[in-house]
Amino acid sequence: MIWRCDLVPQYQAYKAEIDEAIQQVLMSGRYILAENVTAFEQEFAQYIGVQHGVGVNSGTDALMMALWLCNLQPGDEVITTPFTAIPTFSAIRHVGAKPVFLDLEPDTFLMNLDQLQGALTERTKAIVPVHLFGNAVDVQRIREIVGPDILIVEDCAQSHGAKVRGTMTGAMGDFGAFSFYPTKNLGAYGDGGLVVTNDAKAADIMKKRRMYGMISKDEFVTDGINTRLDELQAAILRVKLRHLDTMNARRRELAAIYAELLPTEHVRPQVVRDGVESVWHVYCATVSGRRDELLQFLESRHIQANVYYPMPMSKQRGYMAAFGADAPHLPVAEYLSHHIIALPFYPEIEIATMQTVAQAICEFYGV
Ligand SMILES: Cc1ncc(COP(=O)(O)O)c(C=O)c1O
Repeated sequence: MIWRCDLVPQYQAYKAEIDEAIQQVLMSGRYILAENVTAFEQEFAQYIGVQHGVGVNSGTDALMMALWLCNLQPGDEVITTPFTAIPTFSAIRHVGAKPVFLDLEPDTFLMNLDQLQGALTERTKAIVPVHLFGNAVDVQRIREIVGPDILIVEDCAQSHGAKVRGTMTGAMGDFGAFSFYPTKNLGAYGDGGLVVTNDAKAADIMKKRRMYGMISKDEFVTDGINTRLDELQAAILRVKLRHLDTMNARRRELAAIYAELLPTEHVRPQVVRDGVESVWHVYCATVSGRRDELLQFLESRHIQANVYYPMPMSKQRGYMAAFGADAPHLPVAEYLSHHIIALPFYPEIEIATMQTVAQAICEFYGV
């Protein structure tokens, strides 16, 4: 079987370093918020180019912790994309806000910033741009449109290391929310997440809130929950962070190779705008037609391809009703949900495997 994503080759590539890091944590006897979490928070923040990092339990919690700081009241609006993983909405819903959707650019699959001005109301309190599939939204342009008072929380779950005009995703808005879910460009071997920010006060509040609002053993100063980055995962992430640029560079090389191999009249890969450095978290493309038949055909050839995302959020009626949100007609998002496909892709994939995938697609379309 050719898998959409295979995580074992990456573990094998860095096995000695990872195993050693795990052993050190196990032997230290310190498993919660110890030296690896502190070091990783600093190292990751430095990598992104911001001052503070706050490790939490997941990317969903990273978004939620950042949005919690926006002081949202029921009915307050958060502008985002309808075309993203469900957790983007889980976090918005958790803080009680109402999502407002922009449609997408049909080629980059990112939210269409030409629609942003028209979506702003006096209830708009935050914007959550999602750097989808490793591609990056121009957050500086968002700032120019919305001004200084609306908070920008970047959803960077799929964009570790991606850049716009040299600045990393996560360093452009007020907060950057990262996930370390195992399949991510920087993936743990379990759950993990982190918020980056230049706001020292905000980082301090988040560090208290992630641990029940506690500042010392018996002193609680704010509302809080339990959402801590695990010490073991932090140790693993410190190892993998050292290799992230190499893995991202390989993803870029492989994406360029796929673009050469695939039949361009039927398969149009995600477009990356000038000035943007994508990290190709997933290799997604739109196909000319018969997408679901193609998926079945590939499966019959033992090739796993996926659909991200088969239904835009604006069409999830139950969820939308729970938000009290309108279900706008978003034609590009709906088009993409019927035409998009994610092909087998990860840094260690063999070029021969990609050739097999491309040949099968050529055969399906008769080219
Ligand atoms: C765009 C996006 N946002 C948020 C998340 C949430 O991350 P996690 O699964 O770590 O909660 C994910 C990952 O699934 C994601 O892809």
